[in-house]
Amino acid sequence: MDLYEYQARDLFEKYEVPVLAGIIADTPEEAKAAAEKLGGVVVVKAQVKTGGRGKAGGVKVAKNPDEAFEAAQAILGLDIKGHVVKRVMVAAGARIAKEFYFSVLLDRANRSYLSLSSVEGGMEIEELAVERPEALARVEVDPLEGISPEKALEIAKAAKFDDELAPKVADVFVKLYNVYKGEDATLVEVNPLIQSEDGGIIALDGKVSLDENAGFRHPEHEELEDKDAADPLEAKAKQHDLNYVKLDGQVGIIGNGAGLVMSTLDVVAYAGENHGGVKPANFLDIGGGASATVMAAGLDVILGDEQVKSVFVNVFGGITSCVAVAEGIVKALEILGDAATKPLVVRLDGNQVEEGRAILAAANHPLVTLAAGMDEGADKAAELANA
Ligand SMILES: Nc1ncnc2c1ncn2[C@@H]1O[C@H](COP(=O)(O)OP(=O)(O)OP(=O)(O)O)[C@@H](O)[C@H]1O
Ligand SMILES: [Mg+2]
Repeated sequence: MDLYEYQARDLFEKYEVPVLAGIIADTPEEAKAAAEKLGGVVVVKAQVKTGGRGKAGGVKVAKNPDEAFEAAQAILGLDIKGHVVKRVMVAAGARIAKEFYFSVLLDRANRSYLSLSSVEGGMEIEELAVERPEALARVEVDPLEGISPEKALEIAKAAKFDDELAPKVADVFVKLYNVYKGEDATLVEVNPLIQSEDGGIIALDGKVSLDENAGFRHPEHEELEDKDAADPLEAKAKQHDLNYVKLDGQVGIIGNGAGLVMSTLDVVAYAGENHGGVKPANFLDIGGGASATVMAAGLDVILGDEQVKSVFVNVFGGITSCVAVAEGIVKALEILGDAATKPLVVRLDGNQVEEGRAILAAANHPLVTLAAGMDEGADKAAELANA
């Protein structure tokens, strides 16, 4: 889960990372009031989960509350790379002497953590990495040791901070690592980290991604979720702990195991070419335990998608037997009752397949069609979606 800048700022503050005061505002009036409260020069900043806000006109300096009003008016509603700005942060203005870059992130390829840092901050780091790779210090961080004060100094030296600056930024690196570790983040990035004219080091912008797999350790993270922005069907799926991604087609998909579901998407898209170009409507992996309640929850989410015209249930019985899946489907249809209105094509294979098919055949539900194989099932589901 990616956080907004203002949420990152709040987390930084909790870990004593030096930040400036910031107040969020949803209207120009609120931005003006925030600027009055902060006093002096402020910076009005678009709160969107994408980079390059500055270049897109989403970061504006305001010398007084009236200018903050105007800046917010210009920024709210702005489309930045497909993200419409609904909220701004009014931040105290900094007097910048120098801009730096620092991040710590999960380095999956090396099964480790990685810190990136540079005395050349402010510009887009992707550009810096390509144009002047030598200016970006990459230092591996051992997950068991983290960023100790010594390690932080090593990072600062690698990034060529001078002897006066190195200990100052190192202190902030340690605190930023505390955010990374304490919040179970996969990314903590500050661009720019600045030295102000009076010499202090300040994190002027923050990007934080939290690891949702560690969510159980952080019930408080739920509040950081942007429930309005999430697709309502995805939100519903999440409530049921389902791995669901809404897509743009007409054939609802349910499968067990991410790999099988991915290949089902391909096969359905391919079959759809012969049936008016219908496409998969979603990704939904119900995982190992295809119980009736999980199946019902999955079907409920998919049937709630108006675009869906048919559903293809493609299950390979492994540890979960086809009997459990078939019973799950029958019970799910009972639970859903009149809410189940769209044709279902079911392909079962693997553990106890004959018994599973027999259960579905005996139930003889008017909406259910049994398919012998994956290609046949995909073809049938696509045909029904196009009918
Ligand atoms: N509070 C502030 N006071 C003074 N200048 C600021 C302040 N916040 C940002 N700036 C200036 O604006 C520039 C862009 O700000 P920021 O880094 O927050 O946005 P961005 O880099 O465009 O967005 P993103 O990091 O999402 O790509 C900074 O490099 C800095 O020079
Ligand atoms: Mg930035």
